[in-house]
Amino acid sequence: MSSNPSPTALIVGASRGLGLTMAEEYAKRGWHVIATVRGTGKTALHELAQRSEGRIEIESVDIANADEITSLRQRLQSRKFDLLFVNAGVANDPEETAGAVSTDEFVRVMVTNALSPMRVIEQFESLVSSTGTIGVMSSGLGSVADNESGGWDVYRGSKAALNTMMRSFAARQAGNSRPLVIIAPGWVRTDMGGPNAALDVHESIRGVVDTITSCAGKPGLRYLDYRGHTIRW
Ligand SMILES: NC(=O)c1ccc[n+]([C@@H]2O[C@H](COP(=O)([O-])OP(=O)(O)OC[C@H]3O[C@@H](n4cnc5c(N)ncnc54)[C@H](OP(=O)(O)O)[C@@H]3O)[C@@H](O)[C@H]2O)c1
Repeated sequence: MSSNPSPTALIVGASRGLGLTMAEEYAKRGWHVIATVRGTGKTALHELAQRSEGRIEIESVDIANADEITSLRQRLQSRKFDLLFVNAGVANDPEETAGAVSTDEFVRVMVTNALSPMRVIEQFESLVSSTGTIGVMSSGLGSVADNESGGWDVYRGSKAALNTMMRSFAARQAGNSRPLVIIAPGWVRTDMGGPNAALDVHESIRGVVDTITSCAGKPGLRYLDYRGHTIRW
């Protein structure tokens, strides 16, 4: 048995798209991955886990359900993570302005994209090793400074809210040695990004994982794109 076990990642929201490919990429790089889906149905992650020779374990959580986050925390309480990454997110119709969006839809996007990732991070933070990394999947659309074209009003607002809450979390972590990272993956061909997006999912995720890896040993919060470039807040 190896005296130097594989590093372990918890990737939340990995049934498909960017999260699924992230689980695949970390497993390929020798990590042990616990990756989550919603519910009990079979997903592409289940097929990937079957081929992974035990490198990928599957857990279940709907992050918009606070009780499910608490249950997952209890199930994983004896584990230690070198990376906690919350990828899960949803989009709404990009044309819906504040005047047009229903309250229910606004709440769905905000709760899923801003409140829930922070709940996961606050509940799981103590399971991340003292030098481990905590990250979230945001978007370039979450940049307030770069918003000169408008559109995607509600989705942008949700990712900007996520970024701001990560800043508050980081401020509370000052003096701590953990790297904290907010990632913008680029415009990627997934169910959310659509077929006309600029990037293949593997190209984006290779860059995302390289970027997260490059943050190792660098405490503090960074807002970076998949090429490792800093994004303006
Ligand atoms: N694609 C892009 O161009 C792009 C650009 C910038 C940022 N992003 C961000 O990247 C992340 C992944 O996007 P994607 O393109 O891979 O989207 P996607 O193909 O629609 O996949 C979204 C993932 O999030 C999960 N999810 C959604 N709501 C959840 C919840 N309440 N609890 C747990 N899991 C939940 C989904 O699970 P189910 O299968 O159960 O629905 C799925 O695994 C999102 O945060 C998104 O905002 C994407």
